Amino acid sequence: MVVDVEKRNRPIGVFDSGLGGLTVVRELFRTMPGEDIVYLGDSARVPYGIKSLETVRRFALEDAGFLLGQDLKLLVVACNTASAAAIEVISAASPVPVVDVIRPGVAAALAAGAGPVGVVATEATIRSGAYQRAIADADASREVHAVAAPLLVPIVEEGRADDDPIVTHVLCDYLHDLQRIRPASLILGCTHYPLLSGAIGKLMGPDTVLISSGQAAADEVRRRLEKDNAKNEKDTGGQLRCYTTDNPQRFAQLGERFGGRPVDVVEYVGTDELERYPHSG
Ligand code: DGL
Repeated sequence: MVVDVEKRNRPIGVFDSGLGGLTVVRELFRTMPGEDIVYLGDSARVPYGIKSLETVRRFALEDAGFLLGQDLKLLVVACNTASAAAIEVISAASPVPVVDVIRPGVAAALAAGAGPVGVVATEATIRSGAYQRAIADADASREVHAVAAPLLVPIVEEGRADDDPIVTHVLCDYLHDLQRIRPASLILGCTHYPLLSGAIGKLMGPDTVLISSGQAAADEVRRRLEKDNAKNEKDTGGQLRCYTTDNPQRFAQLGERFGGRPVDVVEYVGTDELERYPHSG
């Protein structure tokens, strides 16, 4: 077999509406420590989760267009809302494989056990019906309970911890029906929610398996790279190079909490530059 060393050495591109996608980067490094990653966080236009799907699609195509100019070997749409709004158009326009967070998360949830599946995500993700459709496509017999939890993103961004009474209060309100239904698995369908998995797990109890979309996506990226013989086998740790559309100092400061490691390099890129990238697949 011919090994394309140049391709193996290329970075994986990852984008999100802001810092949250660094939770997906954390899983990518845990699964494939030798890969280099180029990350774009659109912090100037976060949150995507309360915007119309048309607006999110436009932003997501710009984000993807910018990263595809960085000589990638694979692109990860780390943002659930962007995956829900734009995965088809991005995949159609991309010359490299694209991995989203929704399909891998659904596959992991269905594999976790028989019975109802719960989904918590942003308002736009739930409104799009993307998770509900993906579950029905894979197993039409599954009952799905999808809940929008818009307050959780600002709560995590503010640095509230798992055991903060405000976190418990808000979670109790959102998870009330799911606690009664006791689904076999609960998909944490938003980049920020893994940071609250301790509190969510405590409220849901041991019968519900929590599914991190980011972890499922990282497993899918590994499978894809192995299949294409494109995995970077170097034994030194991969580099994390970030771009943000807002304040780079703030991004670097808060990034470590989401990514679980320091950001190596962070540069500013203006939304005016992103707007130059095409808006249709
Ligand atoms: N990254 C978004 C998601 O996973 C959450 C933050 C936002 O609303 O932009 O849906």
